[in-house]
Amino acid sequence: MNIASSQQAPLLKISDLNAWYGESHVLHGIDLELGEGQLITLLGRNGAGRTTTLRAIMGMVDRRTGSILIHGDEFIDKPAHRIAHLGRIGYCPEERGIFATLNVEENLMLPPTVGEGGMSVAEIYDMFPNLKEVRKRMGTRLSGGEQQMLAIARILRTGARLLLLDEITEGLAPVIVKALSEAILDLKQRGYTIMLVEQNFRFAAPLADRHYVIENGKVIDRIEAGEVEAKMDRLNHYLSV
Ligand SMILES: Nc1ncnc2c1ncn2[C@@H]1O[C@H](COP(=O)(O)OP(=O)(O)O)[C@@H](O)[C@H]1O
Ligand SMILES: [Mg+2]
Repeated sequence: MNIASSQQAPLLKISDLNAWYGESHVLHGIDLELGEGQLITLLGRNGAGRTTTLRAIMGMVDRRTGSILIHGDEFIDKPAHRIAHLGRIGYCPEERGIFATLNVEENLMLPPTVGEGGMSVAEIYDMFPNLKEVRKRMGTRLSGGEQQMLAIARILRTGARLLLLDEITEGLAPVIVKALSEAILDLKQRGYTIMLVEQNFRFAAPLADRHYVIENGKVIDRIEAGEVEAKMDRLNHYLSV
């Protein structure tokens, strides 16, 4: 990293983020940061609060406090519909959110329509050749891997530059996981900034600059890519069920 970029504010800086579903207080002071073009993971056991962290960033919880700075601008008090747009954030939920009764190409043509810097359908097909092959197939007829690629592709159409991706490899065959890994590397090389919630550490490790371990709605450890080997025992302990 050169001096100029290391002095820049991180693209995303989260401080003391607390979040609630109704009366249920789920996040208890999350701190994390993400530089432009970096990829970080949120690791942890089920129920740790990883999905809620993504949802809280998007404004999709009942209440949140703390600070969410994007390029130095405070988003904590902004309504959900403005966050995705102004922050140029794309959120891919675990349930994927594609339209089952439309075909692949129709899904790609749906709003939110292409914003500045959004990928064309041709660029999407270059990145995900599998999607081109099935472009006339209905959402209901797609495999899990095709659905996942389509869900990511829809986000890339919007021009989002910060991607929040929740468990994208869950339940997918190794050959599809490999294709996703290549697509994520490609996105990284194009300068996208990415936050990955992952269970599959073998998938995440070679892609990530840094890992955050979440437990009970808090960050309990922060591990740089270069420290992974030395801290593997600790990581295994955190992730064991
Ligand atoms: N919609 C909701 N309403 C109330 N509690 C929820 C809701 N969604 C998740 N939770 C609770 O919040 C905690 C964190 O969940 P979540 O962020 O989904 O964890 P993770 O993604 O790390 O598995 C869990 O205790 C879960 O039961
Ligand atoms: Mg989750």
